[in-house]
Order: sequence, then structure tokens, then C-alpha cells
Amino acid sequence: MLRLALRVPREHADIALAELLSLVPAGVEERDLGDRIEYAVYGAPGEIPSLPDLQAAAGGVLVEVITEEVADDWGERWKAFHQPITIGDRLHVRPPWADAPPAGTQDIVIDPGQAFGTGAHDTTRLCLELLLELEPGGELMDLGCGSGVLAIAAAKLGWDPVRGVDHELESVDATRENAAVNGVEVDVSRFDLLRDGPAPTAPTMVANLLRPLLLAVARAGFRGSVPERLIISGLLREQADEVAAAFGVHGLQETARREGGDWAAVLLCR
Ligand SMILES: C[S@@+](CC[C@H](N)C(=O)[O-])C[C@H]1O[C@@H](n2cnc3c(N)ncnc32)[C@H](O)[C@@H]1O
Repeated sequence: MLRLALRVPREHADIALAELLSLVPAGVEERDLGDRIEYAVYGAPGEIPSLPDLQAAAGGVLVEVITEEVADDWGERWKAFHQPITIGDRLHVRPPWADAPPAGTQDIVIDPGQAFGTGAHDTTRLCLELLLELEPGGELMDLGCGSGVLAIAAAKLGWDPVRGVDHELESVDATRENAAVNGVEVDVSRFDLLRDGPAPTAPTMVANLLRPLLLAVARAGFRGSVPERLIISGLLREQADEVAAAFGVHGLQETARREGGDWAAVLLCR
């Protein structure tokens, strides 16, 4: 098993992380080294992205790459990295090996597997916070569903039916499996938001995608009716105004914003 670590200057870390997460959706381990931040991925040779791809993702800001064989405890480290989180005292997102939460919260079990979305990443957490502010009910569409964490949370909160799309087969499979483990129904299919035309819609939508993809969705528009409520996330704080404004052509206006770490999520309503 290999551990491949990239070190970037602290001031460029947020940009590098955004790019890396699009390449390594299951998440990266983060270590604060003072003026540098280290992001590490684990996997067998051939499973993790190639060094040239990672270098390209980190762009010109990469300082150092460290590749090491990791000892047998890598699995424990990976588990320690994926900790449960509670959102708004109502949702508890945990990996399968963590204890069930105390009564009173919705228990959402997500196996980090190959798809993005353990709930712990700020972009997912901020989406869940905004979702908790909405009156649940009716149909919901999750664009870029990853592990299915947002779709599953929505189903548990009372949206029905819940649908999700992702361009990666791993994400479609992970969402199906995680939905089954959580005892909810999510209708998930493969859809490429860059190639397959306007986004499929529902009255309530969540889209935890990065800036370029959200701008592409705003440009391509919606396949059905414009959603009444759309949560956009995956935005660095300084990107949120631009991307929220891009949905203005569809009559969607910002009504709430949540920020955490370097990230922002915005609720747009018609
Ligand atoms: C930041 S992750 C969000 C995952 C999950 N919804 C969450 O909030 O944790 C973005 C997801 O969008 C998917 N994605 C990226 N490009 C896409 C595209 N062109 N079409 C559809 N899905 C895409 C990725 O596979 C990934 O699962």
C-alpha cells in the first residue's frame, strides 16, 4: 500500500485541495505543517491517481511529493481519518465502523469507499446545514451524488421521491449501496452534466459540485422546470458571488449562505 503526499504552500492550499478532490473523490488526508499543507492519498499502485495527474491537479503550487510504503496500520489510520459528524443536532453521518448515535438524530451510515462524500467535508456539511433549513417534502434531485450522502439525508428528512445522478459508475453504485444500507430509496442514474445536456430537475435540488461544473450547469440550464430551491456547494468563499449570480438568468436568487473553512454553500430560490 502506498501513501502519496503532496505538499503545497498554505496560501495556495484551498485551490490545490479543490482540484485534488475532483481527482480523489474519496477524500484526502490533511496535515498542517505550518507554512505548508500536506494532502495524502492511500492506495495500491494503480489504484491511486498517477503522479503526473496529481501534479497537474496541484498546478504550479506543488512544493514537494513524498511517496512511501505504509505499514499494516494504514487501515486504522484511514478509519481514524473518517470520523462521524453531527449536523444541526439532527443528522449524524458516520462510517459503518463507528457507533450508532444516541436517539434523537437521523443515523446516516456512509461507507467512504471509492466515492466522494463522507459528510465530513465542509462542502457536504454546509449543504446538509442548508437542507435542514428547508421544509422537507416533494421530489429532490442530487446532482453529483457521490456516495449519496445528501440524497440519503434528504430521504430520511422526508423528501420523496429522491433522485441522484453522477457521471461516475462508482458513485452510482455507492449511492445505491449506501441507500440500501440506510433503508431509503434513491433513484440513481449515470448522467454527465458536461455532455448529456441540461441538468435533470426537481422542485428541490442539491448540487455539491465545483465552480466550473456549477457554471456549466447554469449555462446549460435545466431539463424540466427550473427548481424552486437549489443548494449549490463546492465553492470557495470568494467564488460564491459569481456562481450564485450565474443562476440569476433562471430567476434563482440567493436567500441564504453558509460558510465553513475556505468553503461556502448558497441556497438559491425562485
Ligand atoms: C464534491 S462531490 C459531491 C458528492 C456528494 N454529493 C457530497 O455532497 O458529498 C462531486 C460529485 O460530482 C460528480 N461529478 C463530477 N463531474 C461530474 C459530471 N460532469 N457530471 C456528473 N457528475 C459529476 C463527482 O463524481 C462527485 O461524485
